[in-house]
Amino acid sequence: MQLIDGKATAKAIKGEIRAEVEELTSGGQRPPHLAAVLVGHDGGSESYVAFKIKDCEEVGFRSSLIRFEDDVNERVLLEKINELNNDPELDGFIVQLPLPDHINEQKLIEAIDPGKDVDGFHPVNVGKTVIGLPSFVSATPYGIVELLKRYKVETSGKNCVIVGRSNIVGRPMSILMSQKSINATVTVAHSRTRNLEELCASADILIAALGSPGFIKANMVKEGAVVIDVGTTRVPSTETKSGFRLRGDVVFDEVASKCSLITPVPGGVGPMTRVSLLLNTLKAAKENI
Ligand code: GUN
Repeated sequence: MQLIDGKATAKAIKGEIRAEVEELTSGGQRPPHLAAVLVGHDGGSESYVAFKIKDCEEVGFRSSLIRFEDDVNERVLLEKINELNNDPELDGFIVQLPLPDHINEQKLIEAIDPGKDVDGFHPVNVGKTVIGLPSFVSATPYGIVELLKRYKVETSGKNCVIVGRSNIVGRPMSILMSQKSINATVTVAHSRTRNLEELCASADILIAALGSPGFIKANMVKEGAVVIDVGTTRVPSTETKSGFRLRGDVVFDEVASKCSLITPVPGGVGPMTRVSLLLNTLKAAKENI
């Protein structure tokens, strides 16, 4: 079994991004600029956004954090999105999800200029991804594809089972894995899937993205499979300073010995998701999508 080291891979990619930023700025261009809109004070969202800002600093990007309280009016958010869409000093922005119940998330996503939608959530970007046009691809699937490439995982003709069909991970992941550059045979499993254990155990590449800690056990994994654990559920812990730790969807200790390659949690997919947002922002700064 070999560990897929997302942390080290993300660090290497950050070095590549930093070098590109230096090249851009030495040519007289301003550094790439990412903005994050954060509504409320949810602990998870606060820490994800803080990481995004820190990542920007590390690679020489400019970053802006725009905060609103929980009770913000939807119209106010739509006005801010309109302002960001028209800001020539800004290359891309994200609206951190989830949003409070009184805000229509989809309406906000669709208000974002697809050319600045570095999350890749706008239907225009999703549609372009589906038909293989240049687009912003959602950060987690983008990061996983990059990991598979860098670890030289053979994907052509392989059976890939994706557990989870979210708009952010499972569904776009299935699109990427079936593209001609990857050529996997893809099955998307979900809560109504029958014989899930057998299906997972038939996978050459198993991608667990259901957000249920410890769901994938040894009997669901084929000998020699590549296992990608997307789960990052925050569970209370007395062992960490923050009072939380991350748990994956895979029971790592019993599954690892059966795999040829496996991502740990933390240190697998998570760092690659973060670096993919930087890659999308760099792309936004360099070209018109
Ligand atoms: N919430 C959880 N993941 C994400 C993400 O990738 N982007 C945004 N905007 N919100 C999220």
